[in-house]
Parts: sequence; C-alpha cells; structure tokens
Amino acid sequence: MTIKIVIEEIDQVDKDIYELLLLGDSSPDMLNDYIGRGHKYVAKISEEVVGIVVIINTRPKTLEIVNIAVKEEFQNKGIGKQLIKFVINMARAGKNEILAIGTGNCGIKQITLYQKCGFRIVGVDPDFFIKHHEEFYENGILCRDMIRMKMYL
Ligand code: COA
Repeated sequence: MTIKIVIEEIDQVDKDIYELLLLGDSSPDMLNDYIGRGHKYVAKISEEVVGIVVIINTRPKTLEIVNIAVKEEFQNKGIGKQLIKFVINMARAGKNEILAIGTGNCGIKQITLYQKCGFRIVGVDPDFFIKHHEEFYENGILCRDMIRMKMYL
C-alpha cells in the first residue's frame, strides 16, 4: 500500500531540514552552494517532514535532482519513489527535456531505485567523492565515483 504523503515547496531551511539534507549530501560545502538557489520540496506525513528533494535548473530544459533524502525510520516505504515521481511530473509539465541525478558507486539502493524510476546511466565522474567529500563507505564499498544518470522526459 502506498503511504500517504503531502508534498509542498519550502523556502526556509531550519536545523531539522538541514540535517535531512546532510543525509542526502554529506558535503556541507556543496550543500551550502545549491541550497539557496534550489527548489526544495518536502514530503510530510501529518505535519512531520519525512523527506526532501531539491532540484536546480542546470541548463535550458534540464533539471537536476541535487539532493533527495528520506528520514531513516521512513525509508523503504515508497516515499523516495513518490518524491521522484513528483519531480518527473513537474519537469514534464514545465516542458523540460532532461532530468538528471547523480549518486555514488556504492549506492546500490539508489542506483536500483533511480533505474526503476526511469533513469539511465550516462556517465561516470571518476574520483568525484574522493575529491569533494569525506571518505565514506556504503554496502562495504568505498564511495569514489559519481554515477551520472539521466532521464529523457
Ligand atoms: N538493493 C537494491 N534495491 C533496494 C535495496 C538494496 N539493498 N534496498 C531497497 N531497495 C529498493 C526497494 O526495493 C525499493 O524499490 P521498490 O519500491 O521497487 O521495491 C527502492 O529501493 C526504495 O524505494 P523507496 O522506498 O521509494 O525509497 P526511500 O523512501 O527509502 O528513499 C532514498 C530512497 C535513497 C532517498 C533514501 O533511502 C535515503 O534518504 N537514503 C539516504 C540518503 C541518500 O542516499 N540520498 C540519495 C543520495 S544520491
């Protein structure tokens, strides 16, 4: 059964929302760079924010999901997929042609989820995470490379 969420745009980023954003991007430098210009949409259950997605317009007719995160206790319930579907519909309605997203080579779940949503792998930025992030492991794999994915809308 699909969990019922309400998705709404926000302008202000409080401490709790910033924490959630750090879950989706462990680099505060990068986060601080796009946080102001990104369009931020939160998923709410009752009045609690349980997820967030941030999109930016990278070039004409191209949007990129630069951050997506769901609170740990609400993960694997379909909320991430609903947030991505919301962005896809909005991107199509806005006559965009490409929706992009990037994730680490260690993000097995993310790579699976994004492909299930319609994204394809279009490239790799070798050592992106080594250069821009603190070292971290996921699924026992060192996160080194950025897997670039795109959906042709
Ligand atoms: N391997 C493969 N697939 C997996 C998996 C695994 N280990 N664990 C879960 N999945 C699949 C599920 O089966 C599900 O697909 P299905 O609905 O077809 O069954 C999908 O991944 C998860 O979908 P959903 O429940 O909508 O995801 P979510 O609400 O947990 O949100 C994230 C996904 C990535 C946003 C969330 O897990 C998160 O916040 N993670 C931490 C932050 C992060 O990594 N952000 C992305 C940075 S690129």
